Amino acid sequence: MKMDTILKRFKIGLIYLALLSIVYLYYTYYIRVLIYKHILTHKESAFKNISEGNYSVSIENNNMKYILQWTSKSRPPFYHMGEGNSAFIENKCKYTNCYVTDDRNYFPNETDFDAIAFNGMDVSGISPAQIPKLRSTKQKYVFGAMESADNFPLCAQYLDGFFNWTWTYRLDSDIRWEYIKIFDMNKTLVGPKINMEWPAEMKPLNEELKEKLSNKTKAVAWFVSHCVTKGKREAYVKKLKKNLSKFGWTVDIYGKCGNLECPRKDEKCKDLLERNYYFYLSFENSFAEDYVTEKLLNALNNNVVPIVYGAADYTRYLPNGSYLDAMILGPTKLATEINDIIKNKTRYYDYFRWKNHFVYEQADKPSVCNLCEWLNNEEKFNEFSVWNNFRTWWNGARYKINCASFKDSATN
Ligand SMILES: *[C@@H]1O[C@H](CO)[C@@H](O)[C@H](O)[C@H]1NC(C)=O
Ligand SMILES: *[C@@H]1O[C@H](CO)[C@@H](O)[C@H](O)[C@H]1NC(C)=O
Ligand SMILES: *[C@@H]1O[C@H](CO)[C@@H](O)[C@H](O)[C@H]1NC(C)=O
Ligand SMILES: *[C@@H]1O[C@H](CO)[C@@H](O)[C@H](O)[C@H]1NC(C)=O
Ligand SMILES: *[C@@H]1O[C@H](CO)[C@@H](O)[C@H](O)[C@H]1NC(C)=O
Ligand SMILES: *[C@@H]1O[C@H](CO)[C@@H](O)[C@H](O)[C@H]1NC(C)=O
Ligand SMILES: *[C@@H]1O[C@H](CO)[C@@H](O)[C@H](O)[C@H]1NC(C)=O
Ligand SMILES: *[C@@H]1O[C@H](CO)[C@@H](O)[C@H](O)[C@H]1NC(C)=O
Ligand SMILES: *[C@@H]1O[C@H](CO)[C@@H](O)[C@H](O)[C@H]1NC(C)=O
Repeated sequence: MKMDTILKRFKIGLIYLALLSIVYLYYTYYIRVLIYKHILTHKESAFKNISEGNYSVSIENNNMKYILQWTSKSRPPFYHMGEGNSAFIENKCKYTNCYVTDDRNYFPNETDFDAIAFNGMDVSGISPAQIPKLRSTKQKYVFGAMESADNFPLCAQYLDGFFNWTWTYRLDSDIRWEYIKIFDMNKTLVGPKINMEWPAEMKPLNEELKEKLSNKTKAVAWFVSHCVTKGKREAYVKKLKKNLSKFGWTVDIYGKCGNLECPRKDEKCKDLLERNYYFYLSFENSFAEDYVTEKLLNALNNNVVPIVYGAADYTRYLPNGSYLDAMILGPTKLATEINDIIKNKTRYYDYFRWKNHFVYEQADKPSVCNLCEWLNNEEKFNEFSVWNNFRTWWNGARYKINCASFKDSATN
């Protein structure tokens, strides 16, 4: 073959290739436009197929609510939101017509999302230049968080007036993302809540429970794996140990931060706790309003009295006389109380009276259901709502301390 023939064929090949790419690009563009028009005409449709390159559009469900995860989809608690509407189906939510994606180009126009969700863990890394460019007044920007405000303070000025809904562990959030649920004996959800009403008198224990409690021999247990914390609970425990030793008691520390072992998830550990220990340290790792985690349940649901430590108002979570508050008592007085209560069975038994009135449970499913429910509530969805004082709300009493050294990039 002659050199120029080869060249000729090569050129023809190139032209073919170029033509083919144009056709392909036009075709995919055309399809995108078609699809977009389809959404606009059918307003909403189930759209999982398209994001996966499967362009068969179903219009059965014409009332989808679209949620865009602006922040990472793989960090807690947002991984509970899953992809598409899978999480709502798996959790048997009342509403399953919510569709979750983290694809910002899912719609050509981001104002078409009903909600845009921001993970509290990630918001501090978002500068004003990295927020959505276009915003519709119909959309809800949602702040979601399960981690304490003290560990994830938020200081940027643009955050005031930015979020429409808050979805957190805080009891005064729009939507709750709970760790703990309190039921009455009729299985009605009664708490926790801000103005919790507890019974004035609680019934005494039955003999069976008293017998179970009477076999205990050890003072205090603590299962812990996070050894150095912002709340400095580790320093408190050191003092407590010293003060308890005067009475011949100690704090048994299980896990990475102590010298005893028992994998917390193991049923045997619950048994060990229940059989042996009078008290359990339900110490939070940081100080933030309403930040009360499932650590409380390690005690309550294993017949051990919780000793709490945190910045929450615990009267929202526990009836009077069912726990000891380490923060209020201080280590010296707490040690004396522990000893006095162990020495007086009547007093110790009384700490369990709540069991005749309430059941405490870990929130069984992630609160994804709650978000979808709110999006389906026309009244709530259409109501104007905005968190103008977001920063003072979220950071609470620690706003000044946690934000003192923050420099707002917007003002640079
Ligand atoms: C995807 O396409 C199939 C076939 O047209 C359809 O039956 C199905 O409902 C679609 N799924 C979604 C989530 O739209
Ligand atoms: C499109 O998606 C639906 C369900 O999501 C599936 O049943 C169907 O087989 C898919 N079609 C293609 C061509 O992948
Ligand atoms: C996106 O939609 C909004 C209205 O919701 C409109 O004002 C804006 O021009 C649209 N942007 C683009 C790029 O289409
Ligand atoms: C539970 O239900 C019974 C019967 O309906 C009622 O008498 C009782 O007061 C209820 N208890 C609580 C704690 O609400
Ligand atoms: C208490 O301990 C005794 C002896 O150690 C044992 O026989 C008894 O079953 C225990 N009671 C309970 C309720 O565990
Ligand atoms: C308790 O411990 C603290 C810190 O170690 C110590 O200052 C205090 O005197 C102790 N209290 C008593 C009553 O021993
Ligand atoms: C809680 O109980 C203690 C005694 O056990 C009592 O001194 C205190 O006033 C009670 N607090 C409330 C709020 O009822
Ligand atoms: C034990 O505590 C109760 C109050 O709960 C009190 O009435 C009783 O006198 C105490 N017993 C002793 C021996 O101190
Ligand atoms: C959401 O907040 C923005 C910003 O303050 C506001 O403009 C918008 O009207 C609010 N939208 C809704 C639906 O509440």
